[in-house]
Amino acid sequence: MRNRGIILLVGVGGILGWNAIVRGQGDPLPSPSAPWLTGDLESRFQHVEKHLRGMDMTMVEVGYRYQELYWAGRDEDWEYAAYQLGKIEQSMANGIERRPARAESSRMMQAPVQLLRSVIEGKNPGNSKEPSPH
Ligand code: HEM
Repeated sequence: MRNRGIILLVGVGGILGWNAIVRGQGDPLPSPSAPWLTGDLESRFQHVEKHLRGMDMTMVEVGYRYQELYWAGRDEDWEYAAYQLGKIEQSMANGIERRPARAESSRMMQAPVQLLRSVIEGKNPGNSKEPSPH
């Protein structure tokens, strides 16, 4: 009895899943969970791209995470600092993928990121607690 229930569940799940795949590929109807995404696949992708935005959103994220990184360093919370540094790198890489023209200027981040990583891995803030006098 229990087995029949499981078989029924798997069967219904399979039909629903297949239906979702087929609809996703060809159906131009708006997705019910996101009715702002209308039109054919091409225009839906363009719409999502517009909402994803460019370097400005990357910068808002980097700016936020940079502050979190600063306080993680102050608190000597190295795990959180490493997490934020990784996300900053990921965010920059994604931003450059969207806006390749910024790749050149983004290189200025490489040396500071490396320095930060060695500080974090060494779990030693050194003199980074106080701002440089220069
Ligand atoms: C720790 C380093 C950085 C921080 C904290 C930072 C932060 C910011 C912030 C807060 C903004 C304003 C975003 C907005 O309100 O729309 C901005 C703008 C911008 N930043 Fe950065 N940034 C950093 C490094 C860089 C680097 C390395 C590049 C070069 C790839 C860059 C390129 C830009 C550009 C192009 C804008 C203008 C975005 C736009 O309006 O489209 N930034 N940045």
